[in-house]
Amino acid sequence: MKKTFLFAGIVFVILAALASWAFWPRSPWTAEETDLLRGLWIGSLPPLPADPSNRYADDPRAAAFGHQLFFDPRFSSTGDVSCATCHQPELMFTDGRSLAEGVGKTNRKTMTVIGTAYSPWQFWDGRKDSQWSQALGPLESAVEHGGARTMYVQLIVEHYRAEYESIFGPLPNFSDQSRFPALAGPVDAPTTRAAWDAMTPADRDAVTLVFVNLGKAIAAYERLLLPAPSRFDQYVEAVLNKDWRTMNTTLTEDEIAGLRLFIGKAECIQCHNGALFTNNDFHNTGVPTRQGLPLDRGRATGVQALLNDEFNCLSQWSDAGEQDCAELRFLVSEGEQLEGAFKPSTLRNIAETAPYMHAGQFASLDEVLMHYNHAPISPTGHTELERLHINRFERDQIIAFLRTLSGGVNADPKWLQAP
Ligand code: HEC
Ligand code: HEC
Repeated sequence: MKKTFLFAGIVFVILAALASWAFWPRSPWTAEETDLLRGLWIGSLPPLPADPSNRYADDPRAAAFGHQLFFDPRFSSTGDVSCATCHQPELMFTDGRSLAEGVGKTNRKTMTVIGTAYSPWQFWDGRKDSQWSQALGPLESAVEHGGARTMYVQLIVEHYRAEYESIFGPLPNFSDQSRFPALAGPVDAPTTRAAWDAMTPADRDAVTLVFVNLGKAIAAYERLLLPAPSRFDQYVEAVLNKDWRTMNTTLTEDEIAGLRLFIGKAECIQCHNGALFTNNDFHNTGVPTRQGLPLDRGRATGVQALLNDEFNCLSQWSDAGEQDCAELRFLVSEGEQLEGAFKPSTLRNIAETAPYMHAGQFASLDEVLMHYNHAPISPTGHTELERLHINRFERDQIIAFLRTLSGGVNADPKWLQAP
């Protein structure tokens, strides 16, 4: 009798132990997968890197001035285009168009500005190596702001003298029209360029210095626009804290399945990694040429533009010492892999920034995923993609996961509207 009780007792204890082991909550992720998730988590974003090429990068007065410039449409040939025309805060600093339109139509899709202070290269082809030098590009582009250097300096003299001088020191005397023509700069328009070439080198430098400082102020503002945590980040935080209850209520099963595909079978993480979901390198993914546009060679031409850029890290206008320009000095400037290669975009807020790719080739995330699934031949160079063989349901799961990356902007609300 006693023996039977003892036996039953032992069986009971073993069963109870088995049951609690089976039902005890555990992470659905292996240690290795958990490390991958931690890498994508916003908590892994390092502190904002210093920008030695811009000595005003962290000056709050420069940021406030840059904020004004970013939203000021007077800084264009038509008086109605500002940076914010294409980088609209309510669209995560994009514009919803396939091809951006300023005073004319461009050949590229507007990129977000959020988090770009972390990127060593700016633009789809990385033809700029700092935010301040990037900002000077659209100002002198015939199809974006359409203006010229002397015109911008004149606008500063008229409307922002006090702001400018309190940060950068006294403005030179630009009132002499014979020395400083109203429209002069090294742009394509022949008369504007001829006027520029006719100026003395010293006067040209005086104008360029003010122009460069505009870029540096705008960059100081853009550094304040960072991504905010999304539902995905709450999920990873719960995984890391072993907080099973939060984990199970933060993402749906489909979203989790999509995440599993993203870091696993679909290999998206190969290029979209780190807390901003980009490796900041350049890859050929065989995105087709947009009808009506010339072939875009991407990084292959971008790298040459960067080396010849008047405002690159090693230029006289940069505040960096040579030792601060390692990215540029050790630049990969040749090789077949640059042909047709572009910068992998951040995927944070990606559901809010359609259409997609460097010329807005795809209208929806569904089209993007079909592209990755088929991995077509590249219009130039060789695609790095291979066919994925994922089915419709898996495609939808990846898209569901991408939608969990919308967290908006982490910035003081005053920076998200015109001053
Ligand atoms: C006409 C629309 C338009 C205007 C105006 C415009 N941009 Fe852009 N912006 C774009 C497009 C298009 C791209 C991508 C262009 C490319 O790769 O050639 C871009 C790219 C950028 C990038 C690069 C982001 C990255 O991840 O590399 C930054 C930063 C940026 N713009 C800031 C600005 C600033 C600052 C201004 C104002 C001085 C400005 N833009 C004016 C359309 C515009
Ligand atoms: C070999 C590197 C690589 C891999 C792998 C990769 N991407 Fe990309 N991704 C890129 C590049 C480069 C671009 C920009 C391409 C262009 O515009 O021509 C891009 C663009 C995108 C865009 C559009 C972003 C925008 O702002 O327009 C989305 C969405 C995207 N990728 C999602 C994914 C998903 C999901 C996967 C996995 C199925 C994936 N990527 C795999 C490199 C990669």
